[in-house]
Amino acid sequence: MNSRRKFLRQLGGSSALLAGGASLLIPEHVNAREYRESLIESVKPRSVADTINIGLIGSGIIGHYDLDCALKVPGTKVVAVADLYQPRLERAKEVWGSDLFTTRDYREVLARKDVDAVLICVPDHWHDHISIDALKAGKHVYCEKPMVHHIEEGQAVIDAQKKYGKVFQVGSQRASASAVLEAKKRYEAGDIGEITSAEAFLDRTDALGAWQYTLPPVVNPKDLDWDSFLGDAPKKPFEPVRFFRWRNYKDYGTGVAGDLFVHLLTGLHTVTGSLGPSSIYALGDLNYWKDGRDAYDLVTALLDYPKTKTNASFPLAMRVNLATGAGGDIHTRLVGTEGVIDIGWNSFTLNRLKRPNAPMYSKGYDALFTYPQAMQDQFVRQYDEKYPEGKFVRTIQNDPVVKFDVPEGYDDRLDHMIVFFNAIRENKPSLIKEDAVFGMRAAAPSLAANLSVEQKRAINWDPVAMKIKQT
Ligand SMILES: NC(=O)c1ccc[n+]([C@@H]2O[C@H](COP(=O)([O-])OP(=O)(O)OC[C@H]3O[C@@H](n4cnc5c(N)ncnc54)[C@H](O)[C@@H]3O)[C@@H](O)[C@H]2O)c1
Repeated sequence: MNSRRKFLRQLGGSSALLAGGASLLIPEHVNAREYRESLIESVKPRSVADTINIGLIGSGIIGHYDLDCALKVPGTKVVAVADLYQPRLERAKEVWGSDLFTTRDYREVLARKDVDAVLICVPDHWHDHISIDALKAGKHVYCEKPMVHHIEEGQAVIDAQKKYGKVFQVGSQRASASAVLEAKKRYEAGDIGEITSAEAFLDRTDALGAWQYTLPPVVNPKDLDWDSFLGDAPKKPFEPVRFFRWRNYKDYGTGVAGDLFVHLLTGLHTVTGSLGPSSIYALGDLNYWKDGRDAYDLVTALLDYPKTKTNASFPLAMRVNLATGAGGDIHTRLVGTEGVIDIGWNSFTLNRLKRPNAPMYSKGYDALFTYPQAMQDQFVRQYDEKYPEGKFVRTIQNDPVVKFDVPEGYDDRLDHMIVFFNAIRENKPSLIKEDAVFGMRAAAPSLAANLSVEQKRAINWDPVAMKIKQT
């Protein structure tokens, strides 16, 4: 049994969900430490020789988060770090030890025989190149999302994963998050009936949410490799904001669609099993964060999901707004004929109803009261005879609300790392759900939203063949 399931079972039942009114949630005696321990139980190294050596490529913000998380998994060790900015290499030694091998050239990390797996935490325009080089060098790869910068780069990553047979996982941790996987069970159990529509949004408010990350107090161009940073992007003179706040520029980042739609789609595809939409139409705007960026701070998209074995056809309305006055929030609402699942980051709510099996009438907003009294009485008499109370459900009945939440300190990123290292230990790339094909199916519709904004037209997408349809 996987450790999450085991943990949930330990909570006292087959599920951590509690029906009835307010909330589940996790019993107080289960604290975050016990929870983490229960998660990592299944990944204890078998011997010292079983240690998985990690190379980190890109030691910026998420590089720190990802590596610290990976090091919580027993039997992992960091041996090398690559980054283009010298002070970040100095920081790497401060945090992870002075004996660490550091370099500005990621190929030196890949060339090391003692590196088993790499975490690729660089800007989006480098994801495909470094992933392919790493797979070719025989390394297992955890590559941050979105898998690629442009749709046409995706197939080469899929091919490389297949050709070199290494474990490859994309880093949208929603694919392994407890809330998403528990919501999936409810969806598959038919708890919302047939899906009819979905809505997903991820909104932010403040400057850090809008990617205005802190710049170093002094920037010495000699401390970084600007030409290497540019890679396949258009040549431009060095500008610190382009290096340190690269997300705000389309040459390196994928905008709010590539960056954040991809998380929402990873969750949606995990729950529904859908392969992706067949068409994408989007509007984009830069409303608030006019700091020189060329990426939008608001993108709204409509995506048309075709019927598959696991879902009816449904439209998805999706939005990211980096300047909402309402504070940040994230929701994915799956609306079905018999219920709604509303998933947040690490929680969800399930509302269910039973539909009547008798026709409905009302003494309120209905046509009944517009008829003469005698006619109304006759109608009610006949109705009661035909649909006696007790034998028939005569109005909609709401089930108690069900809520799911995780214990304090829960980290979905750790769950995702555990999936990655388990697949390496068992030498089974197939244990990875968010592999290159999944990564492409989440990234491409997100990137198609950017294309749609630019081209002011719907983009038609073949979710099975993973190709843009030129119609
Ligand atoms: N899964 C998540 O929740 C999540 C969250 C944040 C970021 N991310 C993803 O992680 C990636 C990195 O984002 P970040 O916020 O850490 O950016 P960052 O700017 O903080 O860090 C990127 C680092 O990569 C280095 N770098 C750039 N090109 C390089 C190259 N060719 N070789 C070696 N190092 C290179 C830079 O010097 C920088 O230190 C992005 O793709 C982003 O979308 C994922």
